[in-house]
Amino acid sequence: MREGTAPVIHRLDYQAPTYWIATVDLTLDLDPAKTLITSKMAVKRNATQAHGALVLHGEELTPLRVMIDGEPVSFRQDGNLLHIDAPDRDFELVIRNTCCPEKNTALSGLYTSGGGFFTQCEAEGFRRITYFLDRPDVMAVYTVLLRADKAKYPILLSNGNLVEQGDLDGGKHFAKWHDPFPKPSYLFAVVAADLVAREQRVVTRSGKEHLLQVYVRRGDLDKTEHAMNSLIASMIWDEARFKLPLDLERFMIVGVSDFNMGAMENKGLNIFNTSALLCSPATQTDADFQRVEAIVAHEYFHNWTGNRVTCRDWFQLSLKEGLTVFRDREFSMDMAGSPSARAVQRIQQVRNLRTMQFPEDAGTMAHSVRPDSYTEINNFYTATVYEKGAEVVGLYQTLLGREGFAQGMALYFERHDGQAVTCDDFAQAMADANPDSALASRLDAFKRWYSQPGTPQVTARGHYDAAAQTYTLTLTQRNPKAGEGAAPQLIPVRMGLVGAEGHALPLNLAGQASVGALETVLLLEQAEQSFTFTEVSSQPVPSLLRGFSAPVLLDDGLTDAERLTLLRHDADAFNRWEASQRLALRRLLDAVQSGQALELDIGFLDAMRAVLRDPQLDPAFKAEALRLPEAAYIAEQLPVVDPQAIHNAVEAAWDQLALALRDDWAWAFEAHQVEGGYRPTAEDAGRRALANLALALLVRGSAMLADPVWPGKAYQQVKDATNMTERFGALSALVQAHAGLADAALTHFHEQFAHDALVVDKWFMLQARTAERDGKVFERVKKLLQHPDFTLKNPNRARSLLVQFCNLNPGAFHRTDAGGYVLWADQVAALDAINPQVAARLARAMDRWSTLAEPFRSAAQEALKRLSERPTLSNDVREIVTKALE
Ligand code: PHE
Ligand code: ZN
Repeated sequence: MREGTAPVIHRLDYQAPTYWIATVDLTLDLDPAKTLITSKMAVKRNATQAHGALVLHGEELTPLRVMIDGEPVSFRQDGNLLHIDAPDRDFELVIRNTCCPEKNTALSGLYTSGGGFFTQCEAEGFRRITYFLDRPDVMAVYTVLLRADKAKYPILLSNGNLVEQGDLDGGKHFAKWHDPFPKPSYLFAVVAADLVAREQRVVTRSGKEHLLQVYVRRGDLDKTEHAMNSLIASMIWDEARFKLPLDLERFMIVGVSDFNMGAMENKGLNIFNTSALLCSPATQTDADFQRVEAIVAHEYFHNWTGNRVTCRDWFQLSLKEGLTVFRDREFSMDMAGSPSARAVQRIQQVRNLRTMQFPEDAGTMAHSVRPDSYTEINNFYTATVYEKGAEVVGLYQTLLGREGFAQGMALYFERHDGQAVTCDDFAQAMADANPDSALASRLDAFKRWYSQPGTPQVTARGHYDAAAQTYTLTLTQRNPKAGEGAAPQLIPVRMGLVGAEGHALPLNLAGQASVGALETVLLLEQAEQSFTFTEVSSQPVPSLLRGFSAPVLLDDGLTDAERLTLLRHDADAFNRWEASQRLALRRLLDAVQSGQALELDIGFLDAMRAVLRDPQLDPAFKAEALRLPEAAYIAEQLPVVDPQAIHNAVEAAWDQLALALRDDWAWAFEAHQVEGGYRPTAEDAGRRALANLALALLVRGSAMLADPVWPGKAYQQVKDATNMTERFGALSALVQAHAGLADAALTHFHEQFAHDALVVDKWFMLQARTAERDGKVFERVKKLLQHPDFTLKNPNRARSLLVQFCNLNPGAFHRTDAGGYVLWADQVAALDAINPQVAARLARAMDRWSTLAEPFRSAAQEALKRLSERPTLSNDVREIVTKALE
């Protein structure tokens, strides 16, 4: 294992390489125990750099020989670097080496899974296959010859186009692939396995024909239809919205069950975690269908944003990830269709941002969208780089409009197609394509979104002057996490004014030309700014940050009455939802901070009932509005966090919602049953989401009232449901309520799906994230660690128990006896010996330890210290625990 003594790498230290590599001819003789790799490279001197030794990356490899222009040369190994005395000119370099795929449990580089070979090269996995300049600015044209046993590995795949295949002696066969597009090594991929494919031929706008393939294990073929449909929809969308066509004859997706992340955008050969690919109504939920559609789109969109234009160095990761998440979000919203369904998508994005990214940006791993330093790049595939990065890309579109944004994209590709570039290049293209925009005149200020970490805190206070008929809105911003020399950020605040009767008021902004619009975007660019609206005939309620127009924490200073007005009348669906969340949040925070038991008032309960019963609102929206804010988001509002106090308040709120609205939940459950066959549409999914929420609260209420009817119904639904969304909804209802029938239902469910790994993952996940009661969840998690189906070797399984429990179930994890922390430290260490990347994710459960109340704080620190003192930690985990203790 690599041990944690690695140096810190700084963004400003970037230097172009001394040599480029123009072409690579790779031959892989695939054998699980010892794979032989021959790499023939056309090496070019980079005349802009002083001459020096050729230093290649290589990790866990055995070098056999190195030749320059046909002559063996000496080389020196120094840790993970190979030094070669290379001439001051272009030359041909040939390297032979071996690696051991079956021992590769880190799942980076070439590894085996389910009897096949798979690769994962982002970010620095290629160096675990052969020696190379393994950095994204070195782009080469690859030709790949694969040789392997034909019976065991009938399918041999690599990037690009198949140029030759045939049989060899000794039961072997070969395939030769050529990828015409120069690419960085992180986009290289190989698959050799016994797989079958769903195929589809499509013709794009230009009249070109393409072959689309989705490869999976035999038996899984019937679960690939949704992915194929999503791929075709993505192709059509990218051509229509951004004029970006598929550039390859063949586009392949391959599923593998051992994978560190969701999926990977290797050129022409995307490799997917089966959890992000396989879909069937019987085994996947509506949320899974949505996720698969989004990830298929995401990887496909990378073909332009990431592959055709890639990153100069890994500090620029958000250049491709933030942009591609933005693109897959836009796609998902367009697919969802109705304005309400789009709003629901946005609500889910923001809920996710607040529970994952806000804590990160306030915690020990806080970093800017374009970080300045790292030790282990794998630790920077974060919510900040992805989700906040996507928010930042969204800011361009808010400032430029859809058309202006599309023009910026066009200029970006015109300038940089085939290049490895930086976030600055993207910003410049956006500004240059829109020279008269608010962006172009404020580009430097805008770019602070890339350089300053932390979530800006915005306050808004309004003053109505009845005599003058003016309304003055004063906005301030501060970002205590932004660091030294921090300056105000450019914050677009989309807003409107709502009149007392609920109608939208026309906006007349002093000093601005546009009059009478019902919505505008204010640019907050100073620490404090005031905006005065004229001809305001009555006291308005401001509806601010519509659609969550910037990733900030907003203190709007509104009263409950004003929030109720917004909840009922705001023209912006996102802000109606936001009003519901703020009403709930204030009550939860009051209870947590006062130490008093939470008592939901009639006003709040009536408002929630009104949402539930409102015939104008869509079920999907209702399900979101009636969900309480997540514990992680509640915690971010507090200077000192007692996870048990938050847990108790949230549980009490659910109990009271369950009982006070019992008849309404019963109505909602019955009224939102979906008739007919399963369709994963936004509309049907919305009905199921609300029915599932209703059932959860009905079962919860029943458990309190000792009423057997709803638990009985739920149990029956676990047995009889015809799709996983309803089956798992019922199972969750029983388990989350700690109902008497929960154990029987869990046993039944496990028996029924014991053969399906992805469903067994759900079974673990549900038990690990169940809200704690009397320590039962913790006890169950400890028992599940011993379950015959549990293993640390499969990332999905490890995550479904451990990440769910440690990172996502604060009420169960944070215990006064420190039991959760002890379990965490032990499991991080055990996992680290197998798979450092996955272990490092688990290690992040302690990101926010320093804001914990006692006795949690000291116990957490103690656990961190003990873990950090272990001599054999990987760089990945070492970086996380070191930063936590800094
Ligand atoms: N680049 C992949 C994606 O976002 C994520 C990934 C990173 C996968 C590193 C594997 C390893 O689409
Ligand atoms: Zn990505």
